[in-house]
Amino acid sequence: MTDRYAVFGNPIAHSQSPWIHARFAEATGQELSYERQLVALDGFAAAVQQFFAEGGRGLNITVPFKEQAWLLCGSRSPAAESAGAVNTLQWTDGRLHGDNTDGIGLRRDIKNNLGQAIQGRRILILGAGGAVRGVLRPLLEAQPAALTIANRTVAKAQALTAGLTRFCPVDACGFSDCAGRQFDIVINGTSSGLQGEMPALPEQLFVRDSSLAYDMVYGREATPFMRWAATQGAGAVSDGLGMLVEQAAESFRLWRGVRPATAEVMAGLRSRLA
Ligand code: ATR
Repeated sequence: MTDRYAVFGNPIAHSQSPWIHARFAEATGQELSYERQLVALDGFAAAVQQFFAEGGRGLNITVPFKEQAWLLCGSRSPAAESAGAVNTLQWTDGRLHGDNTDGIGLRRDIKNNLGQAIQGRRILILGAGGAVRGVLRPLLEAQPAALTIANRTVAKAQALTAGLTRFCPVDACGFSDCAGRQFDIVINGTSSGLQGEMPALPEQLFVRDSSLAYDMVYGREATPFMRWAATQGAGAVSDGLGMLVEQAAESFRLWRGVRPATAEVMAGLRSRLA
């Protein structure tokens, strides 16, 4: 029987994961199937149970079920543990094991694909919701000089910093509090771009020319944050397409024991979106 994988979400129609994993399977010579499944908002736990009971090998989990997936797990990786959310599930040793590959995907995209060091650099991350919480630990493990979390609701940023200061100096603030400070890497993890908006940021946040502006979302066109960063002297600007492909590659590695190459898949996905 072909090994079965799937992505669960709601909505799910636009998920690129089946296409990405089909490319990985081809490139690594693995035989598997990977489907997308629309799961009822009140039916997540039952759908997961049914999938594995029927012999399914692994699941990706996307919005809005990542926190529910975390709760279902009998064991979790450190990245998933601190994210409070799980995007990769597999059945191992008689229990459901959860991982979160989003932060590793972000880290690999910044370092390997964009060629930017994280170690020793000052990072500003915008937003304090699930998307940001999901990536913090792998980002901190790459040893930045310091990490600032800025959010419209400052209390949510403050809550996120708890327990993270053992990695590097970490602070929380509002967007306007960043005035007069400069950063090497600014990551937009807010969902503001989905409404065509961007956070109300002060000018001159970027170390001119050598800095990176990274938006965790991706799409056909540059996001409002990317367009703004380009006018502000950021040295490089990127959307999150590479993060999407890299997090998928890490899930594939966890399931199949082999890491697929990502460059061609990123290029293919880019032209697919065009
Ligand atoms: P996600 O899972 O995508 O992170 P979330 O948990 O709802 O979704 O978090 C959304 C994040 O985007 C929050 O940090 C939110 O700021 P608040 O905590 O102040 O609500 C941020 N956000 C959403 N729309 C925004 C906007 N127009 N400007 C600035 N920040 C915005």
